[in-house]
Amino acid sequence: MEIELNSASLASSRNVAILDNFYPAIEPELRDYRVSVFGAGYVGCVSAACLSHDGFPVVAVDPDRFKVERLAQGQAPIVEPGLSELLSHAHKTDLLTATHSASEALNATDISFCCVGTPSLADGTLNTDHVRQVCEDIGKALRQKAAFHIVVMRSTILPGTTEELVIPVLERFSGKVAGRDFGVAYYPEFLRESTAIADYYKPGAIVFGQYEDDTRSIDALKALVSHIGVTPHVVPLRCAEIVKYANNCWHAVKISFSNEIGNICKAKDIDSHVVMDVLCADTRLNISRAYMKPGFAYGGSCLPKDLRALTALGRMLNVPTPVLDAMRVANTLQINHARALVESAGHEKIGFIGITFKADTDDLRESPMLELVEAFLGKGKDIAVYDPNVARDAEGGRNFLKHIAPLLRDSIKEVIAASAVIVIGNKYPGLKDAIEAAGKPVTVIDLARIEMPDNKSMIYHGLCW
Ligand SMILES: NC(=O)c1ccc[n+]([C@@H]2O[C@H](COP(=O)([O-])OP(=O)(O)OC[C@H]3O[C@@H](n4cnc5c(N)ncnc54)[C@H](O)[C@@H]3O)[C@@H](O)[C@H]2O)c1
Repeated sequence: MEIELNSASLASSRNVAILDNFYPAIEPELRDYRVSVFGAGYVGCVSAACLSHDGFPVVAVDPDRFKVERLAQGQAPIVEPGLSELLSHAHKTDLLTATHSASEALNATDISFCCVGTPSLADGTLNTDHVRQVCEDIGKALRQKAAFHIVVMRSTILPGTTEELVIPVLERFSGKVAGRDFGVAYYPEFLRESTAIADYYKPGAIVFGQYEDDTRSIDALKALVSHIGVTPHVVPLRCAEIVKYANNCWHAVKISFSNEIGNICKAKDIDSHVVMDVLCADTRLNISRAYMKPGFAYGGSCLPKDLRALTALGRMLNVPTPVLDAMRVANTLQINHARALVESAGHEKIGFIGITFKADTDDLRESPMLELVEAFLGKGKDIAVYDPNVARDAEGGRNFLKHIAPLLRDSIKEVIAASAVIVIGNKYPGLKDAIEAAGKPVTVIDLARIEMPDNKSMIYHGLCW
């Protein structure tokens, strides 16, 4: 039966028999794992409810007496549509218990999910006190447990926290070694309150952070979500940790950007919702992967000019445009970042591959690569340039530049031969081969994410990778 999953339909659900129609039940033979959920807040309660609904025995752990008592009776300690029905059913089928005791929970389960809070400190830094405490509690219980146990962080934690805090504390208090004596993984939670259960069963993505070669923990997590029908992305721990922040910051950018466009629209008597509907209808360039690859600054004849015009309009209308203003600052900083990277290579002979604002155009207007070349030219560096689309002489085209023309070489090979450091702005055929065949040590500063050349004497720096 096809039923739309949304908070309204979940909230109006009368009993679990109805809820059962929403979700694919997991095959009984896959219900091998028992899960303890540390932290019975929004994330922990939803995890506990959904796991037990799927047939996995769950033990919830929290120091809060009210929450443990509620859960032990199959009642929801927080408000979330559909949660009460799932918890009550789990209680009736003996799939959910609750306790204050970490060791009781560890002994009764194979995997522990850590869903404790990670609030902000006064200065904005992340407060990891609860993470440290829960790891200490689990570590002490792990010391007493002979069987292999898997610890999965689900709290939102900054990149490096699992390796620098979670694992050291677990190892210190358990006397065991992560990856060998017990498993560790990171599994970020993407739920939104009010649609949390629907989000659990229809996630946009599932991400697992793997610790070194601990595939056993990842396999266990895969078994827990196998019925959801979304293939998990298995990435290194730090990558999974920052994906969660990138997601939420992206959402914040989208909201503030839309609001800013809305404020300008209102000042010009335009319906902002029509504007954003039209913007979102373009799934090729707007709501897509386009422009979403970390790299060098934007440039060209449109983006810088149009950003200036809209922010100037904002000033005229007395509508602040902090998000759009920040783009210009960020773009300038990215050019400075590239410049610093080239400077730190410490060479006098610098080669630039591609100086138009992107490959396959001859447009040099507001090209950040040209800005970079001019900066080093101004410092008296010995510059060579390869760009097949830039004119060599005044008759060659409208992008002839008197100060650049003498620097142009006919091939990438010639630029490499004349330079100690190569700055790659655009990708061209033959680039990888030319670096591989350099026949001398060469430093590569990559602003375009080229295919990695196989050259042992190359020193390689990617701009933001
Ligand atoms: N709330 C959301 O919508 C949401 C969504 C995705 C991710 N997250 C992240 O998930 C984490 C949890 O968020 P939340 O909103 O569920 O937090 P919460 O504050 O609602 O719940 C945290 C729970 O952890 C318990 N706790 C503290 N120390 C403990 C310990 N040593 N052992 C066991 N339990 C302990 C607390 O008593 C509390 O019940 C945070 O890192 C948050 O950023 C939250």
